[in-house]
Amino acid sequence: MHDEDLARWQRGWSAARGWNAAQRVDDVTVVRVGEPQCRVEYVATERDAAAAAHLALTDSNPPGTSWLVIATAEPGRVARELLPLEYVRTEWLMKISLPEQALHPVPAPYAVEVTGGRSVIDVQIYGYGELAASGRMAVLHTGAVADMIQTDPAHRRRGLARAVMSTLVTTAVARNTTTAHLSASPQGRPLYTSLGWTTLTPLLVARTAAP
Ligand SMILES: CC(C)(COP(=O)(O)OP(=O)(O)OC[C@H]1O[C@@H](n2cnc3c(N)ncnc32)[C@H](O)[C@@H]1OP(=O)(O)O)[C@@H](O)C(=O)NCCC(=O)NCCS
Repeated sequence: MHDEDLARWQRGWSAARGWNAAQRVDDVTVVRVGEPQCRVEYVATERDAAAAAHLALTDSNPPGTSWLVIATAEPGRVARELLPLEYVRTEWLMKISLPEQALHPVPAPYAVEVTGGRSVIDVQIYGYGELAASGRMAVLHTGAVADMIQTDPAHRRRGLARAVMSTLVTTAVARNTTTAHLSASPQGRPLYTSLGWTTLTPLLVARTAAP
């Protein structure tokens, strides 16, 4: 049920966001986020969705600030079973063997900048005097995780996100990383599919009901 892939993605996602405190409770990964709109993320497969829901509904966080990510082939049905938790959206857990990702250069007149440290790579693409696109990849011993891939609306459909992904992957491969995961939004999924990523499972995103 994608346990290992989900765990690898969660570790990299947390590293990319700087959420360093995580523990396992009843086979649910509990990530302490500590942000005003998101105090905690409960990550689980469908098998442990009820346990994750119980944790979210009984913790002491303000309404609307406890979030769940559940790997399930049937997000609609599981969302109904999790009521009164609030359905937020569906994303998709995707994976690739890094050397298999198609590579694309940064199109002129844009220029790329790579920054970051040992475990996080940041890529920014600039053009026409502004930041046009950016993305991040956490690189852990368990593999890499791409996160926060975005292109400013004024610069979309010019191949910039493709170039961000290429730069992240090239940098990760140079660090001997061989596989990567990500959680794709509906907008991001066609991009990753076009680059050779495969979809493993939908991810149901829910939270405690907002006030
Ligand atoms: C998704 C996003 C990053 C794409 O950025 P972009 O720079 O426009 O993407 P690219 O120009 O590199 O697109 C490369 C390919 O991806 C696919 N693609 C990108 N956007 C698409 C869209 N809106 N609809 C369908 N396919 C799309 C196409 O195959 C495209 O190739 P083509 O233009 O030759 O057809 C951008 O729309 C965005 O920032 N969206 C909001 C944030 C978001 O959802 N990010 C993804 C998080 S997982």
